[in-house]
Amino acid sequence: MSSDRTEQLRVIKDELLNLTESPLYDYRQRNNYFPVIGQGNHYAEIMFIGEAPGKNEAETGRPFCGASGRVLDQLLASIGVPRPDVYVTNIVKDRPPNNRDPLKTEIDLYAPFLERQIDIIQPRVLATLGRFSMEFILRHFGAYRSGARISQLHGTVISVRVSYGTASVVPLYHPAAALYNASQRGTLEDDFQVLTQFLSGR
Ligand code: URA
Repeated sequence: MSSDRTEQLRVIKDELLNLTESPLYDYRQRNNYFPVIGQGNHYAEIMFIGEAPGKNEAETGRPFCGASGRVLDQLLASIGVPRPDVYVTNIVKDRPPNNRDPLKTEIDLYAPFLERQIDIIQPRVLATLGRFSMEFILRHFGAYRSGARISQLHGTVISVRVSYGTASVVPLYHPAAALYNASQRGTLEDDFQVLTQFLSGR
């Protein structure tokens, strides 16, 4: 029998599959793409939140399964965390055309689904990947300070009140940043070490 959480996440999946009001819905249908809901442990202590699916993700329905995903897998391996232990998702659940940045209207439309995923999975750590998800999560939990930049906040731990108690936001650069820039990769590796303090019972 599927757990309560699995059932609640399935409801979200059904709603997203039928989200005809999304400006990205027609593009999804025309390309035979899937919405990318999220993947991983429904009891994860760490939830990774990216921006929006790329082409590989939209073709498979799985988050971070292309080049950025390989970097994410390596970073997880560097702290000894198997990917199935964590939950990986995005703010925007459908692929924006040509990998353009998500629009505010798209973020506003899809954000409530992410908020529900957070409330269902109740992670202790919200690890944001890239500046869009950092800004969204900090704003959503009332921890955004005007002018806050990822270059200042990456690798820090920001405590926020959530519906199920407190959680720690850890802003991280997007793994795509490491693809073409070796120093960004070193920074990401260092920042991932920050997550090890949250790995209990291993
Ligand atoms: N980039 C993202 O932000 N999310 C994905 O799922 C893949 C690439």
